[in-house]
Amino acid sequence: MKNTKISPDVKKRVEKLRETIRHHDKKYYGEAQPEISDFEYDRLYRELKDMEEEYPSLKTKDSPTQKVGESTSKHFKTVAHRVPMLSLDNTYSLEELKEFDERVQKGLGGEKYQYVCELKIDGVSIELVYLKGELAHAITRGDGEKGDDVLENVRNIPGLPAKLKGQGIPDRVEIRGEVFFTAKDFEAVNEDRENRELPLFANPRNTASGTLKTIDPNEAAKKPLHILLYYVFSPGKLPFGTQEESLEWLKKMGFPEDKHYRLCRNIGQVHDYCGEHEKKRGQIGFDCDGVVLKIDDFKQRERLGETSKIPRWAIAFKFAAQKAETTLKVIILQVGRTGAITPVAELEPVLLEGTTVSRATLHNEDEIARKDLRVGDRVIVEKGGMVIPKVLQSLPEKRKGNEKVFKMPSVCPVCDSKLEREEGEAAWRCENAACEAQVERRIEHFCARDAMDIRGAGPAVVKQLLDEKLIRDYADLYTLKQSDVADLERKAEKSAQNLIGQIEESRKRTLGRLLFGLGIRHVGVHVAEILATRYKDLWAVSEASEEELTAIDGIGPIVAHSIVAFFAKAANVKILKKIEKGGVNVKRLKEEEPSGEQPFLGKTFVFTGELKGYSRKEGEDLVKKLGAKAAGSVSKLTSYVVAGEAAGSKLKKAKELGVEILDEAGFEKIVKKYK
Ligand code: IVH
Repeated sequence: MKNTKISPDVKKRVEKLRETIRHHDKKYYGEAQPEISDFEYDRLYRELKDMEEEYPSLKTKDSPTQKVGESTSKHFKTVAHRVPMLSLDNTYSLEELKEFDERVQKGLGGEKYQYVCELKIDGVSIELVYLKGELAHAITRGDGEKGDDVLENVRNIPGLPAKLKGQGIPDRVEIRGEVFFTAKDFEAVNEDRENRELPLFANPRNTASGTLKTIDPNEAAKKPLHILLYYVFSPGKLPFGTQEESLEWLKKMGFPEDKHYRLCRNIGQVHDYCGEHEKKRGQIGFDCDGVVLKIDDFKQRERLGETSKIPRWAIAFKFAAQKAETTLKVIILQVGRTGAITPVAELEPVLLEGTTVSRATLHNEDEIARKDLRVGDRVIVEKGGMVIPKVLQSLPEKRKGNEKVFKMPSVCPVCDSKLEREEGEAAWRCENAACEAQVERRIEHFCARDAMDIRGAGPAVVKQLLDEKLIRDYADLYTLKQSDVADLERKAEKSAQNLIGQIEESRKRTLGRLLFGLGIRHVGVHVAEILATRYKDLWAVSEASEEELTAIDGIGPIVAHSIVAFFAKAANVKILKKIEKGGVNVKRLKEEEPSGEQPFLGKTFVFTGELKGYSRKEGEDLVKKLGAKAAGSVSKLTSYVVAGEAAGSKLKKAKELGVEILDEAGFEKIVKKYK
């Protein structure tokens, strides 16, 4: 199948991934306030990269895979990197390290080579530029091409030489490395910030990033920043030609030294190094999130070269999630927007992957029972890459006898209504849709970034609006007047400024965002987008039957049932009417219209047996692109069974049920004109 025939779903996913990655780049690099973990980020990044590889025509120059993140700040002078500051390819798997090694081996045509393994410091990358031996610039990564010159904030880092001493120092020497905070210093800085009622830093890396971007260098000088360097260049002019020698040279020049590096002669030794250091990770004193392995010989590096973003001579191996032991102090209950009650563990704060962890979700009652978690237990927590850490297990051998078994209450902790648990469901639910906690969560969700994106209406503002009885549901946002919120804007954080303006903006959002924002159970961003593509407006969705919805690819019976149930409730319809009256767009926008022809809309195909011209996936992708649904089993609802060679039970069932059967030629005939 040709590349030009890429399904709209694929295109949408690629765009969505790009948008999400850009958002997180901004949070991470620009604001030093990441919302997701590196693991989660890497997963998104990898998915995008894989899709771009699969569909090369979707590649764009401005894709985050083609650029290095971070933006520059207006407080500092922007300085260009003479050589772009590349990022590294990374992997969590030793197997993939082996594949990397095989590529290196091939690239060097069988020649001998060795690696230097170093710890991957989880800090902020920096480039020091020495001109005529004097420290002249300290440039952040920026967008990879140019960054902020934060020299004044770096100057006072202990051990950082202001001058390179010795004979034959070239006019220009560039040295790259990482600026970071130790775990201990990070705790101390946050304690101080807490005392001064300043917002806390999320982890040591953000503390370093925030310190580097401090406007007053005297303030920065008070912070215990550290630096380690790992990359020197001044091509051909320095007295060394390998990584190991360059590290020795740095030491001679007086730079702080990281003794953890090691020369490895083969990938087996690299594996050993990774294993050893992953175990020791907690004892190193600073945050390291993996190992970087680099070809030692600079000439070999040159021969291997680089892609537009990453060198082919180095790769990062990232460590898996970290674990720590702590005490489960209490279990509190949170009421979600759909009424689900989630038990949450409050923990004795403990440092994990550089973040202080004091809370972890326990999911549901069964999970607590399965893990035998008791209040007062010593427990093992893990930061499984996600921002939200997990309680892995309890340590029963450490019990003293006063630990308490958790019991789910019979009533909602907020509104006192009786909790229900449906058969086959893990969560207990508060069924009172008017429960204050649910109402609050629903409004927060409606205003969220992926929904109506009303930034000023964060949880604190929503709470105030409810407390002051300015709103009772999300539709009421559209009846707010400037005079209603003037007082609140004055009191609330900066984010609430111009709340009315932001609400006004949100009236123009897409139908997909609105549908997601309504908070219908099981309707996530993706399903909401599918609905918006298929229906012309909110009211058309509200009239769809379960059968009609189930026939749409991507919507199963549970989701369909939930959608129909939502619109069947008079109270919901009343709110929706209020929303429309409030001037909110309820129609599908142009950009949401289905692209390409959808001749098989509402049809379901089942593929069975072997086709000559298509793999099963190719056949399925084709019919999906044309609007149909591809199912795995035959039922009364199946429109066509496409039967290839050696078709078995599915063909038999189709015959029994009288479903239309197509052989490959018949299938080809009906799809030919759309290919
Ligand atoms: S070498 C062109 N070595 O990790 C290769 N990077 O994910 C330059 N990092 O951009 C990088 N410790 O900011 C290298 N020992 C180390 C490192 C290291 C941390 C950072 C660096 C890099 C990022 C890649």
